[in-house]
Amino acid sequence: MSRIAYVNGQYVLHGEAAVHIEDRGYQFADGVYEVVDIANGELVDEEPHLDRLDRSLDELRIAWPMSRRAMKLVMRQVIARNLVKNGMIYIQITRGVAPRDHGFPAGVPSSLVMTAKSTKPVPAEQPDDQGIAVISTPDIRWTRPDIKSVALLPNILCKQKAREAGAYEAWLVDADGYVTEGSSTNAWIVTKNNEVVTRGTGGNAILNGITRQAFIKLMATNGLTFVERKFTVAEALEAKEAFISASTTRIKAVVRIDGKPVGNGHPGETVAKLRRIYWAAAAEGGILPKQPTNIREPRA
Ligand SMILES: Cc1ncc(COP(=O)(O)O)c(C=O)c1O
Repeated sequence: MSRIAYVNGQYVLHGEAAVHIEDRGYQFADGVYEVVDIANGELVDEEPHLDRLDRSLDELRIAWPMSRRAMKLVMRQVIARNLVKNGMIYIQITRGVAPRDHGFPAGVPSSLVMTAKSTKPVPAEQPDDQGIAVISTPDIRWTRPDIKSVALLPNILCKQKAREAGAYEAWLVDADGYVTEGSSTNAWIVTKNNEVVTRGTGGNAILNGITRQAFIKLMATNGLTFVERKFTVAEALEAKEAFISASTTRIKAVVRIDGKPVGNGHPGETVAKLRRIYWAAAAEGGILPKQPTNIREPRA
């Protein structure tokens, strides 16, 4: 079956889908995106993803290309036309096509592209899971990583560094020595006191992951103690467990940082528990609000 992409009002063959050479996303990375997990034919936490898209667009003063309602219909069309039951949808909005000039163009409609793809569902229980390795590396991104912008050059350089070191992810470290997040995931530790810790969104230093928000909500109702604060790589190496979260990755145990073991060097029980409860939540379309909230995170 041929994959179908949505490009500015048309459903086209994925292999032939293209945008104009003067699309500002192509020339300036002047755009934003979202990736939403699809589980059992359901979009997982769709509204929070659209809320975050709204926030990213608002921060960059890019107009919605269509109403949120119409967008949801197109998303469903893209999923249906690609016969995706389990997988992900990618949504990208840029400031549109205009003669190259740094200033915003006037009266230009924003561009919208969507693709969807199937992925093999990963089971909730993974007894043979070995966990993943991460490396730490300076956070070389701009000061607004809270915006889900397509300008991902620092992220891809850090991810590549991790791959070349035989690791799955790079943990980005700020100028004060604290981990911000992964190059495409949020970063967590579980302390020896069983506190589940991740960095707060204050200071706009991280992307407020939708999976991060879901985990935080799930912890309160599942007997886990959640603490929002910064941590260093040294503290992570002293922790019982560490892990990463993201919409498509969901959760992965971090068992090595910079070649040194975390805890006993194997995925731990907190990650296993979070896996179980998150898998159940995802199968129900997620656990975050089912209506738009458009709550904007506090600005620094
Ligand atoms: C830098 C960064 N942090 C965190 C995340 C996780 O966000 P979410 O859980 O919404 O997928 C992503 C996802 O792409 C990311 O790119």
